[in-house]
Amino acid sequence: EKERMVKICCIGAGYVGGPTMAVIALKCPSIEVAVVDISKPRIAAWNSDQLPIYEPGLDAVVKECRGRNLFFSTDVEKHVFEADIVFVSVNTPTKTQGLGAGKAADLTYWESAARMIADVSKSDKIVVEKSTVPVKTAEAIEKILTHNSKGIKFQILSNPEFLAEGTAIEDLFKPDRVLIGGRETPEGQKALQTLKEVYAHWVPEERILTTNLWSAELSKLAANAFLAQRISSVNAMSALCEATGANIQQVSFAVGTDTRIGPKFLNASVGFGGSCFQKDILNLVYICECNGLPEVAEYWKQVIKINDYQKSRFVNRVVSSMFNTVSSKKVAILGFAFKKDTGDTRETPAIDVCKGLLGDKANLSIYDPQVTEDQIQRDLSMNKFDWDHPIHLQPTSPSTVKKVSVVWDAYEATKDAHGICILTEWDEFKTLDYQRIYENMQKPAFVFDGRNIVDADKLRDIGFIVYSIGKPLDAWLKDMPAVVA
Ligand code: UDX
Ligand code: UDX
Ligand code: ADP
Repeated sequence: EKERMVKICCIGAGYVGGPTMAVIALKCPSIEVAVVDISKPRIAAWNSDQLPIYEPGLDAVVKECRGRNLFFSTDVEKHVFEADIVFVSVNTPTKTQGLGAGKAADLTYWESAARMIADVSKSDKIVVEKSTVPVKTAEAIEKILTHNSKGIKFQILSNPEFLAEGTAIEDLFKPDRVLIGGRETPEGQKALQTLKEVYAHWVPEERILTTNLWSAELSKLAANAFLAQRISSVNAMSALCEATGANIQQVSFAVGTDTRIGPKFLNASVGFGGSCFQKDILNLVYICECNGLPEVAEYWKQVIKINDYQKSRFVNRVVSSMFNTVSSKKVAILGFAFKKDTGDTRETPAIDVCKGLLGDKANLSIYDPQVTEDQIQRDLSMNKFDWDHPIHLQPTSPSTVKKVSVVWDAYEATKDAHGICILTEWDEFKTLDYQRIYENMQKPAFVFDGRNIVDADKLRDIGFIVYSIGKPLDAWLKDMPAVVA
């Protein structure tokens, strides 16, 4: 008998589901992969030449597999019905209302996906948790599935994704590890083995780690918390460097050469952003509190507090340097995405920095090579946490529109500006013609480098007053100390 093709269905065609499934399809030609989503425009974009997310290398992978063994569809139920393995990669934002508001994960989308799976399934299935969720979510999902199953057997696995945006394809091709958690029963272990075989098509065996369900779920929250903590540690040091005359890049390098610490992920910045770090830490904090561990909760909360401090410290530095007022002054914002090589703006530090400057009545001119005007205006008019809750979307307030212009060129953004804030480390910002920019700006002309990517001494030679995070301050900035409320 000819063996039937294994079928995978992934619910949620977002930043995680899309690239992950594209790579599985590329590496496993014998597996049919369907990515489904309730959003019609999103699926239409996945089926077009203009993919809904910008990710280096993604276009080529999709081009090779789409229509072969990779399909994008809004027919969620049909593909779930046909699948042997169902990945769930729907959004899990932070709750905005009710119990745990501002901290706990909102599992509405997850629960509705689970109920739908139970509803349409007519054969046994493996259900894989792919989105980051609180520990013990698998248990809850298992209950929904088994209580609605009509005699069908579901095995639940946790397979958290560790890819970082901007390097998603590279990360998926050569992951540090793949982590799969499952039940410690014979059925659970068999399901675990099935998923392991999918990854074994391209990931070396020793890099596929298997654990119990809770360990897999918690490892993902822990990894993101540790990574974010490194950045908050470096950023906290950057404030001390500015106060003492030490240089954060020298300190980071010296610290990172200790093999116990390691050199990566030690860049001081205006603050971390992205859809994961803050959300996962808030989640971790909430879980600690629910488990009667307030000291542990308090410890992790500090990572977010330092991140907020770093953003407001940056705004205060900008305002105080410019004679304590930016009212009606044009300020150029270079970079809006939360990191380079992505168009994603979720939790980007640029939102808080821009809001801070708008609060001091600045006129902003924003340029980012990958973020649309629409997105920027929406981000700046939304309340915190609204970004992942489309239902709460508010119309952009007219006063914001008036104070914010979005342009498609760094030279236009900086023309007649008093200051430049670099908020994303796009490579192209390193090679701008700063002489030309200087000549077209108001004087004194300021550069506030929130990512330490420009050659500050070269800019000073041109005539700029330069602020670099965590580096010795220009005399000008020393004379105008930033006050942090
Ligand atoms: C992160 C994790 O890296 C990834 O493993 C997980 O799956 C999802 O969350 P991502 O948010 O896409 O990935 O990007 P990441 O490269 O981790 O950057 C997060 C933020 O930290 C960005 O705003 C980035 O600019 C900032 N950052 C990173 C620093 O400020 N300094 C650093 O040294 C590194
Ligand atoms: C430390 C630094 O490692 C060293 O570089 C510096 O010069 C002096 O301080 P030391 O205190 O001698 O060295 O020992 P170390 O191995 O760092 O251990 C310090 C403490 O941390 C010990 O009590 C150790 O048991 C504990 N530890 C270490 C843990 O609890 N867990 C670990 O994973 C590592
Ligand atoms: P992530 O960054 O975790 O990938 P995204 O927000 O980019 O998150 O993607 C999540 C996707 O899941 C969205 O495109 C959303 O439309 C989709 N989604 C949410 N709930 C469901 C559901 N019940 N069925 C199908 N798709 C869903």
